[in-house]
Amino acid sequence: MSGWNSIPELGALVGEEIRLRGWVDGRRSSGRIGFIQLRESGATVQLVISRKEVDEASWEALQSATQESTVAVTGTAAADPRSPGGVEVHVSSLALVHGADGYPITPKEHGTAFLMDHRHLWLRSSRQRAVLRIRSEVCQAIHDFHRERGYYLVDSPILTPAACEGTSTLFETPYFDHGNAYLSQSGQLYLEPAAAALGKVYCFGPTFRAEKSKTRRHLMEFWMVEPEAAFLDFKGLAELAEDFVVYLAERVLEHCAEPLEVLERDTSRLEAIRKPFPRLRYAEAIDLLRRQGSEIEFGDDFGAPEETSIAEAFDRPVMVTHYPTSLKAFYMEPDPDDPTLALALDVIAPEGYGEIIGGSQRIHDHDLLLSRLREHDLPIEAFQWYLDIRRYGTFEHSGFGMGVERFVAWMAGVPHLRETIPYPRTMDRIYP
Ligand code: 4AD
Ligand code: MG
Repeated sequence: MSGWNSIPELGALVGEEIRLRGWVDGRRSSGRIGFIQLRESGATVQLVISRKEVDEASWEALQSATQESTVAVTGTAAADPRSPGGVEVHVSSLALVHGADGYPITPKEHGTAFLMDHRHLWLRSSRQRAVLRIRSEVCQAIHDFHRERGYYLVDSPILTPAACEGTSTLFETPYFDHGNAYLSQSGQLYLEPAAAALGKVYCFGPTFRAEKSKTRRHLMEFWMVEPEAAFLDFKGLAELAEDFVVYLAERVLEHCAEPLEVLERDTSRLEAIRKPFPRLRYAEAIDLLRRQGSEIEFGDDFGAPEETSIAEAFDRPVMVTHYPTSLKAFYMEPDPDDPTLALALDVIAPEGYGEIIGGSQRIHDHDLLLSRLREHDLPIEAFQWYLDIRRYGTFEHSGFGMGVERFVAWMAGVPHLRETIPYPRTMDRIYP
């Protein structure tokens, strides 16, 4: 027999001889029988090693198979209704591939700083594996949603000559003879021209914000998905955002039952993510907060506590629209009925997860955009290419951005964004 099996396929191989290579997740043994919890392909299976059924070398391999050692095993897949996958392996031979000595993460409790220092190993633990599986499903669903609706994937650059979302959170790097380049804060500005080329487009990649905040909702490097569509108005944008969130949540419920169970996620909260989402104008959100006892004034931005209070008034995500232009980015189209307001929307997730989506209709009038660039003190020269989109066949268009880590944190029910990305970049950490 050649080739190696994987744990997820064992259920279909009951009664057959199988071969596995993987890591020792856990081990216990008595004089006559030993058990290894073997991890492979993100799953685990119990190996049962009976002393009288294996040779001396296999029994010795069991004694040397410390936590996180790698082993190779031959055995028979056997039905076992008590096991998570419904199957266990009766071992006929076991070999040590590599004996791990003193694996630092033990079953006892470790502090967060210790675990973050060992992030490269922490990824192996059941909870981290569960979060990574949900993330992987969400990323795949993001691509599927756009493909099903005829959106083209257009990659935006990471090294950029100017700011997109305010100049206070830029990461700078010297760029040959061109002065400084900045790590992209959003791919949006580069998507708008692509919308004139392909109609419906999206980008999905890493984004960088030098946020001087240490909250559980902020990373320096996070992944953002940004759809942008030609001739999409503000109403259509709101529907798109709603459909998107519902689609992704359904996919997680459908494909991630096991990781959600490992995380002990209350899935009834995810099942409640249904259309329509309540919609509030910014002014109504301010009234709501004041009725709840807040001293917030019209014109103030929402922080995490305000977002949480707004969300708590509803059982599903909330869409807040029509913010004062002063609170939002330079490119947002003003409300025709009241130009002091922007055709902007934020989607706020329940359970304290805060803003997951921010978007708007974009200014399509050349002169208005130019005056906004001036008001925001942005370098006009650097934005000539962006103004060109308003010079040559301008068009109504809209889009939004969703932070993948915020969405995954909400789905997984983990409080801190640092557990939702394989290698988090926070203000106080860039190792490993
Ligand atoms: O609201 P933001 O800043 O919007 C934009 O960047 C637009 N240009 C997007 C667009 O219209 N194409 O960011 C969008 C989302 C937020 O709602 C949040 O989910 C996430 O990106 N986000 C962060 N996630 C983690 N860490 C940070 N520091 C984040 N900043 C924003
Ligand atoms: Mg925002």
